[in-house]
Amino acid sequence: MSKNTFRDGIFDGKVLFITGGRTGIGYDIAKNMMQLGANAVIVGRDAEGLAKSAANLEREAGNGKKCIAAAADVRDKNQVRAAVSKTLEAFGKIDFVVCAAAGNFLVPIDGLSENGFKTVIDIDLLGTYNTIKATLHPLRETQGAYIHISATLHYRGTPYQPHVSAAKAGIDALSNVLAVEEGPRGIRSNVIAPGPIGETEGMKRLGTKGYDPRSVIPLGRQGYKQEISDAAVFLFSDAGKYITGQTLVVDGGHRHLTHASLPYPMMVLEPEKVKAMFQGKL
Ligand code: HXC
Repeated sequence: MSKNTFRDGIFDGKVLFITGGRTGIGYDIAKNMMQLGANAVIVGRDAEGLAKSAANLEREAGNGKKCIAAAADVRDKNQVRAAVSKTLEAFGKIDFVVCAAAGNFLVPIDGLSENGFKTVIDIDLLGTYNTIKATLHPLRETQGAYIHISATLHYRGTPYQPHVSAAKAGIDALSNVLAVEEGPRGIRSNVIAPGPIGETEGMKRLGTKGYDPRSVIPLGRQGYKQEISDAAVFLFSDAGKYITGQTLVVDGGHRHLTHASLPYPMMVLEPEKVKAMFQGKL
């Protein structure tokens, strides 16, 4: 958390429900929100890993705030509903929801099976839908807010990301509809679109060798997870109260570099792979 920016206790008494909270950006958002006073429920498929992460989050928050592990596959609406019930039993309400669960692998359309496409659509887009449906009524009670973790891949045609691009475009659209439909009930819905963020599963999967961030990112470096979680804190805080139906891109300016650089994720592929791709061998 940016200690100089956000005041301790701004989320005292608040409850965060976050899918994909076991690792990466989701974990960091849970940590940041807990350090600022929230209790959290993290949701994911790996029950054992989730329990470990919940214990680590309580330790890292270091302020007595609670984190509960609710194992669920976001593709299954009944499992997501059970996780919501567990949250309501433990904390009595939900104020903030983050949809951060996602899946990814590099594959061209020609090599992508129907099940491969559906798997990512189901985790990312259907998972977001299931989470919205399961939390909407509790959020009406608290006039709470949503954040959906998207990407910038679909702003251009990003090779080897057909499934993820389609899913993230759908998530952006869903968030905008949610903002308009539920705005009158006091609910806000926004998207955060991270660019290349270091030490994340996404960057591991898209490869990190052989590129110089200074040549493709105006700010000259990959982002830190904390820079995404700080954006989430801002949107959930009172400073974000009039912001809804918005996408906040946190990418060091990367998306603007279209012609001067390789498109994402080619910039993070090893040079041999890029060459092979243009030769139709990858
Ligand atoms: C082609 C692949 C493939 C690959 C899987 N499939 N990996 N096809 N290339 N590398 C196909 C399989 O062959 C199968 O289709 C179908 O996808 C389902 O595969 P399963 O392994 O059975 O699926 P599952 O166990 O549910 O795993 C889901 C997953 C996996 C998405 C494939 O990678 C996963 O669990 N990921 C979660 C973590 C993650 O990816 N995090 C990164 C998010 S990054 P067939 O036809 O054979 O049955 C992100 C942001 C990106 O979202 C933005 C930029 C960084």
